[in-house]
Amino acid sequence: MTDASTIRIAVIGSGPAGFYAAGHLLKAGGERVELDMIERLPTPWGLVRSGVAPDHPKIKSVTRIYEKTAAHPQFRFFGNVNFGAHVSRAELLARYHAIVYATGSPSDRPLGIPGEELPGSHAATEFVGWYNGHPDHTDLEVDLLKAERAVVIGNGNVALDVARMLVLAPAELAPTDTADHALEVLAASRVNEVVVVGRRGPAQAAFTNPELLELGELADADVIVDPEELARALAVADPQAEENATARRNVEILRSYAERPATGRPKRILLRFLLSPSALLPAEGGHLGTVELIRNELVGGADGRLRAQARKERETIEAGLLFRAIGYRGIALPEVPFDELAAVIPNQGGCVTDPRTGETLPGEYVVGWIKRGPSGVIGTNKKDAQETVDAMLADLGLGAEGEEPRPGGHEPSEPDAAAVEALLRSRQPKLVSYSGWEAIDRHERALGEPAGRPRVKLTRVDELLRVAGAEEP
Ligand SMILES: Cc1cc2nc3c(=O)[nH]c(=O)nc-3n(C[C@H](O)[C@H](O)[C@H](O)COP(=O)(O)OP(=O)(O)OC[C@H]3O[C@@H](n4cnc5c(N)ncnc54)[C@H](O)[C@@H]3O)c2cc1C
Ligand SMILES: NC(=O)c1ccc[n+]([C@@H]2O[C@H](COP(=O)([O-])OP(=O)(O)OC[C@H]3O[C@@H](n4cnc5c(N)ncnc54)[C@H](OP(=O)(O)O)[C@@H]3O)[C@@H](O)[C@H]2O)c1
Repeated sequence: MTDASTIRIAVIGSGPAGFYAAGHLLKAGGERVELDMIERLPTPWGLVRSGVAPDHPKIKSVTRIYEKTAAHPQFRFFGNVNFGAHVSRAELLARYHAIVYATGSPSDRPLGIPGEELPGSHAATEFVGWYNGHPDHTDLEVDLLKAERAVVIGNGNVALDVARMLVLAPAELAPTDTADHALEVLAASRVNEVVVVGRRGPAQAAFTNPELLELGELADADVIVDPEELARALAVADPQAEENATARRNVEILRSYAERPATGRPKRILLRFLLSPSALLPAEGGHLGTVELIRNELVGGADGRLRAQARKERETIEAGLLFRAIGYRGIALPEVPFDELAAVIPNQGGCVTDPRTGETLPGEYVVGWIKRGPSGVIGTNKKDAQETVDAMLADLGLGAEGEEPRPGGHEPSEPDAAAVEALLRSRQPKLVSYSGWEAIDRHERALGEPAGRPRVKLTRVDELLRVAGAEEP
């Protein structure tokens, strides 16, 4: 039976935001806090496992910090448990003093143009999930045999990840943890040109500098920027971008690419600006064949931000593949407030609010992409989680030294650790504990070792459950 002074917290989602929140809470709460993490997949780490590009292994080593949190004696992991399907908000509120939603932004944003559903047109979300072995996307059909040219829409880091993955040399791909099904398809790919299309200019691009620089260092691909288009896109002054060091450096890097002669590498990445797709047209057989684009000019908005305004001129690019990398989107959780427009859980500083009254809801908190929208690197979620945790600690009476724990306005009726585990196991007999995940981790690493790869990912839920030993309740 749980001690009466114990504060029980459920974190929903095991990505960076969930783990930073858990880490902060366990550190600040000492022995009084018991923390359970509920994750939809049999594996933890969110987009660190299923988003971060396979050729960026160092970034993934951030999970060592999360492993330390997971080793805390007051931490439990319940994988393969889907909040909203296996357990409801009301059931958790009855069992925990606080719930922290950390479910990220797993969906994609549509372009809203004709032809978007044609075969060959993909959301980056699904392509990224596919090459990273996310079980939801294992069966995605990405036809890299038909097309020689792919278009990537968007000027953020996801667009660069997608473009790079499409042109990596086999030797660059081989030592990565790219899912085996994707390695095979990428190795046989006929794509030799990737056109990355920004609706605004180089100064407004959301790339970060190391990611943009990396494009210029690929073994098999030249990076090409048209000096005339660059000059046109830079012709309208952007005071906001001029004050931003990343934007200034991006422009310098792009200028250097525009001056660089092509070296004759077998593949190319073209960076294009001031263009928006207006329609996707089929080739014979119904597969994507042509991307129709409309030229934009930059015009100032009332907020000082330059926006893209369509002109009359159009352009077409023959391409059998298109990836829209225009941002991820949060999805509503059953019974939990949701702001449809911003696709986030409405909140004040991480305290969930009732959208009708604007009042905060006792015992409910939010962190990460589902709190602030799909932007920011892994580290951004640490500070963001701290803000939420500070508010929680104050609510729970753990904020100031010497203060007695005071479950902030929410007193659960059944705060019992053993009972909640029994409930979750009754709903999901194939629950994956943290030791189950460790078995998966060992297995994947061992599979990767002979080939010098960090791991070979298991990409099907039934395989993951078998290796986790989760098939026996
Ligand atoms: C393609 C891509 C590449 C990126 N690369 C980098 C990079 O190289 N470097 C960098 O610093 N940042 C990178 N980022 C950004 C970084 O991944 C995010 O800032 C971070 O992952 C957001 O953390 P999160 O915890 O809010 O969401 P997520 O990481 O998405 O985690 C959310 C978790 O919640 C779980 N979940 C969702 N719904 C439920 C439910 N109903 N029940 C239970 N669990 C649920 C999900 O399965 C997931 O595990 C990248 C982002 C993308 C999209
Ligand atoms: N290596 C890394 O560190 C890494 C890798 C991947 C992702 N991440 C991070 O993860 C976060 C998400 O990245 P992201 O690339 O998905 O998002 P992002 O940085 O917000 O970029 C989205 C891009 O899509 C464009 N866009 C939006 N709507 C559009 C439309 N309708 N038509 C055409 N273009 C449109 C945006 O242009 P406008 O500016 O004109 O709106 C912007 O260029 C970012 O913070 C990113 O830095 C980091």
